[in-house]
Amino acid sequence: MFKKIICLLLLFLSIKTFADDGYRLWLKYDLIKNQKERESYARITKFIAVNSQLEIVKTASIELQSGLKGLLGKTVPVIASSKSTGGIVFQLSLNKDLNEEGYSITSQNGNIVINANTEKGILYGTFELLRSIQTGKSLSNISIVSNPKIQYRMLNHWDNPLGTIERGYAGSSLWKWYELPENIDPRYKDYARANASIGINATVVNNVNASARFMTKEYLLKVKALADVFRPYGIKVFLSINFAAPKILKGTKTSDPLDPQVRAWWQAKTNEIYSIIPDFGGYLVKANSEGEPGPQDFGRTHADGANMLAEALKPYTGVVIWRAFVYKPSSKDDPKGDRYKEAYNDFKPLDGQFDKKVIVQVKNGPIDFQPREPFHPLFGAMPKTPLAMEFQITQEYLGFTTNLVYLAPLFKECLESDTYVNGKGSTVAKVVDGSLHDYHLTAIAGVANTGSDRNWTGHFMSQANWYAFGRLAWNHELSSEQIADEWVKMTLSHEPKTVKTITKILTESRENYVNFTTPLGLHHIMGQGIHFGPEPWLMKSDRPDWASAYYHRADTLGIGCDRTKKGSEALLLYTQEVQNQWNDPAKTPLPYLLWFHHVGWKTKLSTGNTLWDELCTRYYTGLQSVKDMRKEWNSVKPNIDKEIFEDVAGRLAVQEREAIWWRDACVLYFRQYSKMPIPAQFPKPERSLEEVTKLVEIYQLR
Ligand code: GCU
Repeated sequence: MFKKIICLLLLFLSIKTFADDGYRLWLKYDLIKNQKERESYARITKFIAVNSQLEIVKTASIELQSGLKGLLGKTVPVIASSKSTGGIVFQLSLNKDLNEEGYSITSQNGNIVINANTEKGILYGTFELLRSIQTGKSLSNISIVSNPKIQYRMLNHWDNPLGTIERGYAGSSLWKWYELPENIDPRYKDYARANASIGINATVVNNVNASARFMTKEYLLKVKALADVFRPYGIKVFLSINFAAPKILKGTKTSDPLDPQVRAWWQAKTNEIYSIIPDFGGYLVKANSEGEPGPQDFGRTHADGANMLAEALKPYTGVVIWRAFVYKPSSKDDPKGDRYKEAYNDFKPLDGQFDKKVIVQVKNGPIDFQPREPFHPLFGAMPKTPLAMEFQITQEYLGFTTNLVYLAPLFKECLESDTYVNGKGSTVAKVVDGSLHDYHLTAIAGVANTGSDRNWTGHFMSQANWYAFGRLAWNHELSSEQIADEWVKMTLSHEPKTVKTITKILTESRENYVNFTTPLGLHHIMGQGIHFGPEPWLMKSDRPDWASAYYHRADTLGIGCDRTKKGSEALLLYTQEVQNQWNDPAKTPLPYLLWFHHVGWKTKLSTGNTLWDELCTRYYTGLQSVKDMRKEWNSVKPNIDKEIFEDVAGRLAVQEREAIWWRDACVLYFRQYSKMPIPAQFPKPERSLEEVTKLVEIYQLR
């Protein structure tokens, strides 16, 4: 008895002192505190009836059982079938309202029935049911029908064989290549669980700047080991390939896609891959971009390269995902040269020339994952070629892991943009989900923000970005607030005021970030190479379109890049309706103003301020909003796990320092051109331009 008491005491103490390290993400399944609530869920979850032996169905029942055990504190038996009521029933049967991965959850004859056409649907329905309990929803009379709108919902890992991650800020790679295939880190399974819970069904495990070694047998066996862990969670593995792999691996003398030996090499390699990983997803390709090899090295087109790979994949289910992130340096003699137009000019003429197995993956904006970009002009411009969306979840240009920036509003802003190609309502989302052009393949990718940090994403709040990407990939109609609300309840707190405050912090955070870094349509003025901190004074770089001056064009008259007919003509790539929105500087919405116009410093804007005063106002209010975020975060302290609270509070303090850095740098630098004073209501920066210039140099020192 005494022993028992000691044990219970120890258990209590360990629970009491347990600090949350963030590892469990949104799959915490902590005991529901309110006993009544717990009991009401328990009454309708007395058993899990499963009459299928399929692997993914088994995963679903294990997940459900362990989730319920945590939430309700009881072991719910998994049984083959039941005549009684008050349980959960998995039902794999034809349902015409559902697509391949969809599910319905309904109350039927006293049970909760999860119905799906496939085992994957059962898994996704299971996670939806758990989410409903985690977020405190009532299950009586539950009636949900849900179909993913996009077929391939994938993460792109920019992970290198040596364990580093390109633009990764949360530690090193999750994949321990040197230990694979024998040693399976338990984390691989937790990664798969997290992805499956938000509907992600594909992952590209290596960097788009790909090493050819992933095509060797040694590495394929390592990839197979990962694929084996991910399969029970419905996740397919893809590989980024190096287009010159046949030559690099000494299989051929060239990598010309029209050379018969090269084609034979890829066919043999593809056959080998499928003999090792029978459900391999396919290839992701970065070609003729930023120094990577590609078909243009041999005078061939992107379509020639992609179609060669498609041919090799013909006997199999796999697809080719070919990236459109290309930008040749525009010719010095071309006064209309603009990086904005490069991908469009390369790809638009190829519409209709790609094989049926090819998807072209386009970044959300025309430059490169800036805090705000207009939607990419290719969306809507290639009706005969399935276009995938590429978002970046890792915060390359959004403050790494020292800035709290919730990305759902950024993703939504792009998806909801109207291309007008088939009249009003032709949104980017409808291009990507295939409904606008009737694409036979659809895909959306997010460049992952995961790494070996214990909490996966470095900044704890960046977990919300992984979560939001998955949720929007499944259903782009969900609102940013709804996703934030779910995530907060699942990971941080149920206390209503806390949920409200954190949801507000999250949903406002991206606009705040834009304000103190690149307001009014400024873009690409960050530290070169590292993509961190401000460097608006960078006039020259290895390529002109890597320098800040190329984008802001500040001079004594004004600031901004003229992309109208009088300028680079990039605006002309869009439909007339879109042009009408952005053509006239007096009518262009302020968030896009300097993307398309060179505007005089003294020009009056719709806010009543001159451009210069408005620019200063944004930098100062942007900083103020970070201070406000800190206050709001402090207000939720009593309801947040101590370790998480302190970590986020610390990072917010860093964010404030960085916001001051951005403000000082940009206001002091651009003032040299405007020659106008900082509006009197704002305090002057406490340091000189010279002092602030040094900072980014320090970060760039080797
Ligand atoms: C950006 C990023 C690179 C990356 C590239 C890509 O330019 O800075 O690191 O390789 O995008 O998307 O291919």
